[in-house]
Amino acid sequence: MDVVAFSRVGRGATVMEIGAGTGNFLDLFSEVASHLIAIDVTEEMLQTARAEFPSMSLVMGDGTRLPFRSRSVELVSCAQMLHHVHEPLPLLKEMRRVAADDGRVLVVDQAAPESYEQTAFMNQLEAIRDPSHAASRSPSSLRVLVQTAGMEVVDEKLTTITQTMSKWMAPGEFPAERFAQVERFIERFGDETGMRFRKENDEWAFDRTRVMFLCRR
Ligand SMILES: C[S@@+](CC[C@H](N)C(=O)[O-])C[C@H]1O[C@@H](n2cnc3c(N)ncnc32)[C@H](O)[C@@H]1O
Repeated sequence: MDVVAFSRVGRGATVMEIGAGTGNFLDLFSEVASHLIAIDVTEEMLQTARAEFPSMSLVMGDGTRLPFRSRSVELVSCAQMLHHVHEPLPLLKEMRRVAADDGRVLVVDQAAPESYEQTAFMNQLEAIRDPSHAASRSPSSLRVLVQTAGMEVVDEKLTTITQTMSKWMAPGEFPAERFAQVERFIERFGDETGMRFRKENDEWAFDRTRVMFLCRR
């Protein structure tokens, strides 16, 4: 998604990611940033990040209570994590709080369709696949959320790729029964999800849309 260029982050900046997981997304900024700070609630994720990216600063904690001064970080980001959060407003407000005066907040997440009904079906399917799924939101819902958190959107970008079942549910990562449940749901309701399910090379493929918002505090 060319996220580093999209973020306009300056050379030597500090970049923080909330919900950094194993650090792969944050590492994209390693060529420009002087300091990378990964925040995550899950210790196992940070342990993997520590082994993979030893120069990252790792903080185990909740993104709604960041142990950092207000207006102190040039780029505060979250990627592919808001759909795990039931109430995103406190988290977005906290991201805004630590963003520097001339800093930016970057929000990247998978996007749901604008249709309420399709979003409901999509979220049902996502929750069957991964019970930690809270809600995918449409681009317009996400835009309202960042604005309600007090931020101004300075740029946004939508990207759609083709995702395949074997990548979405990699063999061995999910119990067989879960895989079967997902397939049953797709066969019955796939057309209602707005994800454009189709068979390609004998497996399900679908559209995965991601949205990025670059915001001013
Ligand atoms: C799907 S992973 C995304 C990882 C990474 N951002 C990426 O794009 O590869 C979501 C991560 O968000 C973390 N997370 C969920 N809620 C959180 C919260 N309230 N504060 C901090 N981390 C959170 C989870 O532990 C998980 O590691």
